[in-house]
Amino acid sequence: MKSLFTIVLIAFSFAFISCSDKREPNYQYFPNMYESVPYDTYGEYEIFPQEQEALLIAEGTISRGFTPYEYEDSPEGYQTSKEELTNEVPYTEENLAKGKELYDIYCATCHGENGNGKGYLVEREKILGVPSYDDQGRAITEGSVYHVMWYGINTMGSYASQMNNKELWLVDHYVMKLKAELEGKAPREFETESE
Ligand code: HEC
Repeated sequence: MKSLFTIVLIAFSFAFISCSDKREPNYQYFPNMYESVPYDTYGEYEIFPQEQEALLIAEGTISRGFTPYEYEDSPEGYQTSKEELTNEVPYTEENLAKGKELYDIYCATCHGENGNGKGYLVEREKILGVPSYDDQGRAITEGSVYHVMWYGINTMGSYASQMNNKELWLVDHYVMKLKAELEGKAPREFETESE
């Protein structure tokens, strides 16, 4: 009796096993171990603070390499930046060359290659009121140049999204160099990078 039972059992298991299709997954006893249960992108789940898989970035987050600009977009902010903000990027020959490159791309079309306010667009009367960098009434400084690149001023747009902080300061050096040239001042001496 016992051996008959064994034979039936073996025959039964053969029948059972031989029916499985090897190209298909077999029975899964604990499916979670084979297939994880991830959260879908942008899915709604109660477990998250806003019941949203996509969380808001933490307050005060800034992108890598970005330095926040603390002066306000107001006449007072402009004035304070003009008086106290200075360019910390070393004034080296290499940095000035990079500044020129960016200046020629972003600024020269209006301000002119030498900063006299007579760029291509001005010559063709596409834009008016572009000042020369040696304009006495404006008396621009490193700080004010950065400020207007950051926020823009009247018909001139902002460059804060086009260039990173360092690039803006490189252009700033070049603008101050053009200003000194227009005023007939002796060129500023180059520094050596001490980093
Ligand atoms: C589309 C033309 C245009 C471009 C491009 C442009 N500017 Fe200007 N910029 C102007 C005009 C117009 C003004 C005068 C705005 C006013 O005060 O009414 C001005 C003013 C300025 C001033 C004087 C602001 C002051 O303190 O009174 C500076 C400095 C300056 N621009 C720098 C730059 C730099 C640097 C770039 C490139 C990153 C640049 N501009 C690109 C049109 C332009």
